[in-house]
Amino acid sequence: MNQITDTNNGQGLFITFEGVEGAGKTTNIEYIAEKIIASGHEILLTREPGGTELGEAIRELLISKEFPEMHHNTELLLMFAARAEHLQRKIIPALEQGKWVLCDRFTDATYAYQGAGRDIDQDNIQILENLVQGTLRPDYTFLFDIDADIGLARARSRGETDRFEQQHIDFFNRVRSAYLKMADENQKRYRIVNAQYDLQTVQTQIDKLLSQIL
Ligand code: TMP
Repeated sequence: MNQITDTNNGQGLFITFEGVEGAGKTTNIEYIAEKIIASGHEILLTREPGGTELGEAIRELLISKEFPEMHHNTELLLMFAARAEHLQRKIIPALEQGKWVLCDRFTDATYAYQGAGRDIDQDNIQILENLVQGTLRPDYTFLFDIDADIGLARARSRGETDRFEQQHIDFFNRVRSAYLKMADENQKRYRIVNAQYDLQTVQTQIDKLLSQIL
């Protein structure tokens, strides 16, 4: 088994991006990636669940509507199975090479979706987090915060919904609240972007937040 080491110490930065569906994460991560590259850093842009060949296969199982009745613990374990692969094969090697890793969702999504959304005990998530990650945690987390109703309407207007997007609005309200709580409890790590505004206004907020990091 690979030894897990605390790699984000003096090497590449590990930055994660979170938010309910429809918060504009994808567009904004691309914008942030361009800014970081322009400031001279090498990056790895990746996502969860996914990021490796096996991880993307697990992602398909997780988001496909083929298994609507998937047990909540199965969902939790598949998230961490994909994450273990992703960390060992992509994230840790990139950080060790001094790259900045930009990851579209990470373990805070598990606390928000499986913890608050599915009502899985936080202590059990923490056990898996420690097992899979050792002491590795993100350096910064950008939360794209939006009213769950507005975000979901945006996501659903994009076309066919996945297994998560079919959840009731109450589920997404719990997810959003959990993110805001984590942001409040981890103020040094979290950067909140109000994603309800137009793209220009959102990018102005991002520029300001990035200037504190770059
Ligand atoms: P995406 O649409 O942002 O790519 O994410 C796919 C879905 O996976 C999204 O609905 C959130 C969900 N998810 C979890 O439920 N738990 C997790 O740990 C992660 C990483 C994602």
